[in-house]
Amino acid sequence: MSNYHIKNFEEYFQIYRKSVREPENFWGEVAEEHFVWRKKWNSVLQYDFSKPEFKWFEGAKLNITENCIDRHLMTRADKTAILFEPNDPAEPAQHITYAELSKRVNKMANVLKSQGVKKGDRVCVYLPMIPELAVTLLACARIGAIHSVVFAGFSSTALATRIKDASCKMVVTSDGSYRGSKTIDLKGIVDEAVAQCDSIETVLVVKRTGEAIPMEEGRDQWLEPLLDEASTTCEPEIMDAEDPLFILYTSGSTGRPKGMLHTTAGYMVYTAYTFKNIFQYKEEDIYWCTADIGWITGHSYIVYGPLANGATTIMFEGVPSYPDFGRFWEVVEKHRVTQFYTAPTAIRALAKENLDYVNKYDLTSLKVLGSVGEPINEEAWHWYNDNIGKQKSPIVDTWWQTETGGIMISPIPYVTPTIPTYATLPMPGIQPALMDERGEEIKGNLVNGSLCIKFPWPSMARTIWGDHDRYRDTYFSAFNNCYFTGDGALRDAVGYYRITGRVDDVVIVSGHNLGTAPIEDAINEHPAVAESAIVGFPHDIKGNALYGFIILKEFGETRLRENLRKEINQQITEHIGPIAKLDRIQFVPGLPKTRSGKIMRRILRKIASNDTSNLGDISTLLNPEVVEQIIAEVILE
Ligand code: WT7
Repeated sequence: MSNYHIKNFEEYFQIYRKSVREPENFWGEVAEEHFVWRKKWNSVLQYDFSKPEFKWFEGAKLNITENCIDRHLMTRADKTAILFEPNDPAEPAQHITYAELSKRVNKMANVLKSQGVKKGDRVCVYLPMIPELAVTLLACARIGAIHSVVFAGFSSTALATRIKDASCKMVVTSDGSYRGSKTIDLKGIVDEAVAQCDSIETVLVVKRTGEAIPMEEGRDQWLEPLLDEASTTCEPEIMDAEDPLFILYTSGSTGRPKGMLHTTAGYMVYTAYTFKNIFQYKEEDIYWCTADIGWITGHSYIVYGPLANGATTIMFEGVPSYPDFGRFWEVVEKHRVTQFYTAPTAIRALAKENLDYVNKYDLTSLKVLGSVGEPINEEAWHWYNDNIGKQKSPIVDTWWQTETGGIMISPIPYVTPTIPTYATLPMPGIQPALMDERGEEIKGNLVNGSLCIKFPWPSMARTIWGDHDRYRDTYFSAFNNCYFTGDGALRDAVGYYRITGRVDDVVIVSGHNLGTAPIEDAINEHPAVAESAIVGFPHDIKGNALYGFIILKEFGETRLRENLRKEINQQITEHIGPIAKLDRIQFVPGLPKTRSGKIMRRILRKIASNDTSNLGDISTLLNPEVVEQIIAEVILE
């Protein structure tokens, strides 16, 4: 029996038990058998929840790109590593082999070096889903620079906040990007952002759309001529196991975005291991994850996990609705995709359209379907299972987070029997626990609580960039000696987990993790706004949408409310991005508050969800009358 590849349910239990009883032996064996190391570790794991500090494979030396690229050159040089499917279906797909990927990454690494990027420097990557995005990540990893990818749908303000937080030296971007029928001026957004950031020395620009764009002398450089000059060999920087690999920002329930820091060896081992098992990946497979590399899903399961296994991974530049709602299925047929990994929000959107969009295409190549980003509702699960998988491809409902680096709870296809809406069982090495309100672990089955992980795993984020106290307070202070996820979950009679949703002030909109506080901050900057509170409410396609309760300053009352709604959403678009726009805005005379002045979001959530029959006890509120007023006005507006 190999620890690395789980083939049946009995093996899963055996391996799982071993991973809990002897975690160091288990991960040591996985790491030893399946990766290349320049030097072996001194210890597999050292940890201290009170600091908190976690070190995996301490003392080991490696470069992740040797594992993702170089080692495959002996056996897979001509195999496609990255299959690029452009936005426009008429533009030919590109098959980038491992040999070509190696050349491109080495050249890019040399360009970064020639522009003064060194080990430990932060490089901000603001690119559309084109091959250069994956190449830039790998090139950073090649030379030990820390990449910080910012999703290219974020606004210039959001980009600037992230560049400043990590003091990035360079931004890699493109002239523009294609999204369906639209062209977006990415470079313009970068120019606005960089104008506010002192740390940026260089902006490298990939040519994608060919639009004329201004180039700032001494700062901006076209990438192509630099690549043409660069050598195709770049010796990899030999990294320590715990050297940083990347920063990726995620929203918190309060304040600024959190730059989650992931390190090298543990992240590599865990993402590769989970990729292999959760997609039951085999050598000839064509794997497609539709996420953007701007999110953790793309980092772990488009780039690092698949490439560490020598897989063919598709990068899709487009959107599910362009040129029509059949695009995903057209691509599945065209490339004979075997594993397809997407988000519930996309499934729900496509399920609304005519089934002809699906039935036109041959989907018989599919073997595994995946879901990620939010709970998948039963209806969407069945639509996916019936119409895409034809009830033959198991659905893996994968629960995890930016912070966890890799998939934590998920069925293993053809191994774990699935039940709609259940993420089922933990991966080897993952020890979930449900906690009650007193902070005690709830043992046994048929229970419900706050989801924690009570033992370290290799790909956990090690800190929040520049703010270790916040890392400790956010994840390790609510409960003793474990990591708190921010999600609630239940455990059923057989021990399967079902994620019930966030228990904090984070709302998952279309699979995007949005903190309500930064949105409120953006709104409150509008001159007519006195105070605001944002909550999520159920939405057919997005899963959740945002509802804003907004108190206007006196003079604001005289302005046209429709205009104000537009201005407020504009304000949010500028500060965060269009994904954070409010679906509903209600102007209210006050917000329900506790006597200590805390907004009672629980009540607002119920009002927003139109579920006001049982608001619970509101008598302890500072201003209970305001609740009645708000409810009365919901009906009017
Ligand atoms: C939050 C993390 C994991 C990569 C994409 C999102 C929610 C994620 C599931 C799932 C129920 C899920 C959780 C989690 N979530 N996957 N399969 N079932 N909820 O990463 O932006 O860090 O968001 O997404 O609430 O805490 P993220």
